[in-house]
Amino acid sequence: GSTVLAQTHRPQFHFSPKAHWINDPNGMVYYKGIYHLFYQYHPASSVWGPMHWGHTTSKDMVHWQEQPIALYPDSLGYIFSGSAVVDVNNTSGFGKNGQTPLVAIFTHHNPKLEKQKPEQVQSQSLAYSLDEGKTWTKYAGNPVLPNPGITDFRDPKVRWFEPQKKWVMTLATKDRVTFYSSPNLKNWTKESEFGSDAGAHGGVWECPDLFPLTHNGKKVWVLIVNINPGGPNKGSAAQYFLGDFDGKMFKAYSKETKWMDFGADNYAGVTFANTGDRVTLIGWMSNWQYARDVPTPNWRGATTVPRDLGLQEVDKELYLTSTPVKELNALDGQRFSLKNLTVKGQYDLTAKANNETGLFKLELATKSIADFSIVLANEAGNELVIGYDKSTNTYYIDRSRSGKVEFEKGFGERHTAPRLSTDATISLTLLADVASVELFADKGLTVMTDIFFPDKPMNKLFVKSATGVSITTLTYTKLKSALAEK
Ligand code: FRU
Repeated sequence: GSTVLAQTHRPQFHFSPKAHWINDPNGMVYYKGIYHLFYQYHPASSVWGPMHWGHTTSKDMVHWQEQPIALYPDSLGYIFSGSAVVDVNNTSGFGKNGQTPLVAIFTHHNPKLEKQKPEQVQSQSLAYSLDEGKTWTKYAGNPVLPNPGITDFRDPKVRWFEPQKKWVMTLATKDRVTFYSSPNLKNWTKESEFGSDAGAHGGVWECPDLFPLTHNGKKVWVLIVNINPGGPNKGSAAQYFLGDFDGKMFKAYSKETKWMDFGADNYAGVTFANTGDRVTLIGWMSNWQYARDVPTPNWRGATTVPRDLGLQEVDKELYLTSTPVKELNALDGQRFSLKNLTVKGQYDLTAKANNETGLFKLELATKSIADFSIVLANEAGNELVIGYDKSTNTYYIDRSRSGKVEFEKGFGERHTAPRLSTDATISLTLLADVASVELFADKGLTVMTDIFFPDKPMNKLFVKSATGVSITTLTYTKLKSALAEK
């Protein structure tokens, strides 16, 4: 109801459950015109606890409708993260009378074994749906992949590998990824491991994903591996590798970590199944460093906007790009554009923006490379600063004075991200919700997602530059809430 919509800091165009705790997106699958988003959910409180799979659905990835809980804990334990697939050929045999089953592959986490047998706590299990995702039945033969003796053994992401007509599971195993394969989702064979000599190892590896993208007609496999802690701006973050995958092994072009998002608040992101060549990711818009402490007592957590993933080459090096899905344009409201604007000092956009909601999209392109910042502010004296610093060639988001920051000592900091593009001009898209900003710079090459909790809604907007910046175009678009009552 309207009370939920009006709650302080309630995201207006990012999914958040009406009440209680959410973390990772799970089981994301597109089926018969509906996007299904399941998620780590604790229906009994606003802090993490026995995990369920919450469920929400959407026709456009923008307007979501919360559904009944899909999976409850059982005698094998809590329902941790995992994926879902459309079993088109009914390889699992769960389909009856020609039905196509949706199959969820998730981690069972058994808290009863935590003390005595930590290396047996996590195993992989199945559930299936024969009614297009509405209700789910757990497989009687669970677990399908028992634990071989690895303490952290979780977050299966499964996809069909057509050349060898088999399923491939990408699993987080401590600070490695292990690939398994199966003809039927029930019997799994270990294929290979990745990570002993690659990537960041400042924390445990979680929620991996593996999918192909095409660059200049060539297939490039992307391996996303979330890590906690050890992110570039502290806490949890998403690293990725590009390389080849032959159905058994992933060979990275480079062993160096690349970061999908340099902000503090895009974790455990995975992609939808069954979207064809389109690869769309949604992340959890928080960070394990303070997720439990954020000042939203009625619920905690939200998802990022959905992002289409692509590849871009810079100086013969390939990078993953993220751009907000075009479906978000459905929220576009009043807009104005400024052309050939030079800002030295500050330019106040507040009157033109008449921004009482705090929701907007700002698109900006500069004539050359110069320092500038975009400042969200309010009457309470809060400021959130998003900018580019030429001397270090970095983008940054400074939330140190953005409002409530005291709930965790590392929250109120300035985050930086390298500018990867070598273009002679800067272009960016900034999405602002009441409690988050998402920066997509240089066509999604450098991305930063940060949450913040202002004392009053941010209703002032400035562009600033001490050295001076020439802007070719600046377009401000008011965004409508996606939560409006039906
Ligand atoms: C990542 C994670 C997963 C796990 C889930 C538990 O945020 O730790 O590895 O499956 O959360 O809720």
